[in-house]
Amino acid sequence: MISVKDLFKTYVAGDTEVKALRGVSLEIERGEFISIAGPSGSGKTTMLNIIGCIDSADSGDITINGESVMDLKRDAQAAFRRDYLGFVFQSYNLIPVLTAFENVAFSLNLMGVDDAETKERSMAILKEVGLEGMENRRPGKLSGGQQQRVAIARAIVKNPEILLADEPTANLDSNTGKEILELMKELNEKHQSTFIFATHDPMVMDFAGRLVQLHDGEIQSDERR
Ligand SMILES: Nc1ncnc2c1ncn2[C@@H]1O[C@H](COP(=O)(O)OP(=O)(O)O)[C@@H](O)[C@H]1O
Ligand SMILES: [Mg+2]
Repeated sequence: MISVKDLFKTYVAGDTEVKALRGVSLEIERGEFISIAGPSGSGKTTMLNIIGCIDSADSGDITINGESVMDLKRDAQAAFRRDYLGFVFQSYNLIPVLTAFENVAFSLNLMGVDDAETKERSMAILKEVGLEGMENRRPGKLSGGQQQRVAIARAIVKNPEILLADEPTANLDSNTGKEILELMKELNEKHQSTFIFATHDPMVMDFAGRLVQLHDGEIQSDERR
């Protein structure tokens, strides 16, 4: 479903060059729950951002369902991101002035879903992630774990083909992190989305059905478990 071929990415900052990805190739099947692991600086975020069309590679190719996403024009990439991808970040990235409900509904509004359906789907997904009764709270009135649940609801309400999560448990205590992972595993099975996590948390790696280890921008190992 996702085919990543020979990605290279070098960052240039002043007169120093950092080779963030050095020929990364990977085939990912629909519905996989896959962890991209590796120490800080190994290229995890860079890889996720390139798959998510947030950043571009210097060379290589990514095809999703047979279509090259790197060849798409800017507008088409934005539409692809909106319609096929969900993102979850370490720091939740919710809109602080919007309620939990509004944060989730916003992503459906962007897709042109009508108000009645938006309301129904947003309320249903917030219930599914365990936030029934908290729909009208703003992020500042929610715990870290609850905010991450809103972020997950916002990502999954679109029924994305691919959910990309960058260190989603890094700001959470280990019990809350475990609950978040259990929730994600449930959603992965129920919604049949492909989940790709970047992490250096061993607990996240334990949850993954497949573990890809990056080191200095290269894949060091790739095992299904
Ligand atoms: N915008 C940037 N400019 C310069 N160097 C960067 C930039 N983003 C990442 N890097 C460097 O690229 C390497 C890989 O970074 P990153 O993909 O963020 O790794 P990870 O997510 O595994 O910590 C690191 O050495 C990092 O310092
Ligand atoms: Mg990172």
